[in-house]
Amino acid sequence: MDKPDLGDRSAALDTSVPHIARVYDYWLGGKDNYAADRKAAEQVIATFPDVTVSVRAQRAFLGRAVHYLAAEAGLRQFLDIGTGLPSANNTHEVAQRAAPQARVVYVDNDPIVLLHARALLTSSPEGATRYVEADLRDTGQILDEAAQVLDFGQPVAVMLLGVLHCIPDSGDPAAIVARLLAAVPPGSYLTIAHPASDVTVDQMARSMRGYNQQARDPLTARSHAEVSRFFDGLDLVEPGVVQLHRWRAGVGDLAADRELANYGGVGRKPY
Ligand SMILES: C[S@@+](CC[C@H](N)C(=O)[O-])C[C@H]1O[C@@H](n2cnc3c(N)ncnc32)[C@H](O)[C@@H]1O
Repeated sequence: MDKPDLGDRSAALDTSVPHIARVYDYWLGGKDNYAADRKAAEQVIATFPDVTVSVRAQRAFLGRAVHYLAAEAGLRQFLDIGTGLPSANNTHEVAQRAAPQARVVYVDNDPIVLLHARALLTSSPEGATRYVEADLRDTGQILDEAAQVLDFGQPVAVMLLGVLHCIPDSGDPAAIVARLLAAVPPGSYLTIAHPASDVTVDQMARSMRGYNQQARDPLTARSHAEVSRFFDGLDLVEPGVVQLHRWRAGVGDLAADRELANYGGVGRKPY
């Protein structure tokens, strides 16, 4: 497989330990992953076979949520943190299909995502996209750099899909969410996708434990109540925080009676 030229980023890219961006890419059937990523990804599949279904359902949720925000809620600005490697239906593609003037700032802290960021920067002429290399914890840097493209006087859709579980409780993810929401005006939205600790409980616990034994950055699945708390102070869009394949599902989405350990929700900052 061709690997991108790492240039002077190679020092920051340790391919000997699994990294969530590349493991997720493997589960989605992508090619931008290394042996350590594939080994960890396969081990999770062995303990939690539905993980590949879950990540595809997460991408489908991303598509439905962004379409809802752009087409129904009228949002024109998106701040997508924990972007991941480019895949089908990236945020700006879905948003700009509904609203070509949509402006999207992508943020990720993995150098391999930066290497592929060109694929995320294919904006419509009327809109704009920007990539920021930053850590979700560094909300000051994110907001400063995003302000070059986004107008924080107008509503912003803050997207945190598959990234809050990379912040352990000791990192106070709720405070990070609160800092981001304090920076955006009423009428802004928060979208979250987050692995569930209280669905298919034993499988999830086993697979998270197995992954965390190998990875440098541990992952934390959370319960419905814990994920719902990230939306404190917001008005939840119907149907609330649900297993994400059940969020405004349409034709081609997974059957609602299937159990999937992955929550999704969208909330609006009230006026
Ligand atoms: C599981 S992928 C999710 C990708 C995409 N949002 C989606 O839902 O399909 C998680 C992404 O979050 C990034 N990430 C993890 N921890 C991060 C952090 N502290 N700051 C910024 N990005 C982070 C990873 O590098 C990875 O690209």
